[in-house]
Amino acid sequence: MVRFENVGVRYGVGPEVLRDINLHIAPGSFQFLTGASGAGKSSLLKLMYLALFPSRGRMEVFGQDLATAHRRDLPALRRRIGVVFQDFRLLQNLSVFDNVALPLRLAGEDEKRTRNNVSELLDWVGLGARLEDSPDTLSGGEQQRVAIARAVISKPNLLLADEPTGNVDDRIAYRLVRLFEELHRSGTAVVVATHNDALVRRFSHPVLTLTDSILHPSIAPASNGASNSAGQAKAKAAEAPAVRRKSG
Ligand SMILES: Nc1ncnc2c1ncn2[C@@H]1O[C@H](COP(=O)(O)OP(=O)(O)O)[C@@H](O)[C@H]1O
Ligand SMILES: [Mg+2]
Repeated sequence: MVRFENVGVRYGVGPEVLRDINLHIAPGSFQFLTGASGAGKSSLLKLMYLALFPSRGRMEVFGQDLATAHRRDLPALRRRIGVVFQDFRLLQNLSVFDNVALPLRLAGEDEKRTRNNVSELLDWVGLGARLEDSPDTLSGGEQQRVAIARAVISKPNLLLADEPTGNVDDRIAYRLVRLFEELHRSGTAVVVATHNDALVRRFSHPVLTLTDSILHPSIAPASNGASNSAGQAKAKAAEAPAVRRKSG
């Protein structure tokens, strides 16, 4: 789905901020991406959503080698990727509801189904009472949840979330990761960048760690009790709203 071979990235003439990245994001996988502030998490995600290009090495997205891709090929690749930006990037002249509905409306989805799906999802993230409000009247944590709803509503093949729980309390952070798990269970590959190690430990997913510009794949962190078993995490995720494929 996404493959990196010896990828390096530098901004301008600066030093490489990512070095020798080798990584394969398999369809339907779920991974956390951790690392200290400045370690390169956002840069790695930007590579994956094609907002930044490697300075060296080889990169493939949905089977397309970026070295041979044309500029005109990129929008179609990007449409298959949902992104939760660290700075949200909501449209302030649209209501909360319309921000989340936008990807479905652009894709020409049936309006009645759009209204049902958007309402259900905004209820799930705790914003059912804010549908008609403007994003700029919401707190940081609420805006973050709108951004997440917008990224997941169209069930992308790949979901990339950059510190998606940075502005919410632990209970909501846990609930949001469960929403990502629900999307993952319906077949989406998910990468969640976070520096919240405690949150990562509550789930049993592989963890990629960036240290000194190098990526270290690691096994799932040691869990601290039965509640972290994959089975239980999945059972809990099942309570999240059904994230249906287009055909469903
Ligand atoms: N647009 C940019 N221009 C120059 N340097 C940048 C830019 N974006 C990020 N960097 C640098 O790249 C390194 C990695 O940053 P970033 O990917 O944002 O890390 P993280 O998301 O883990 O905090 C940092 O040293 C940062 O200063
Ligand atoms: Mg970052």
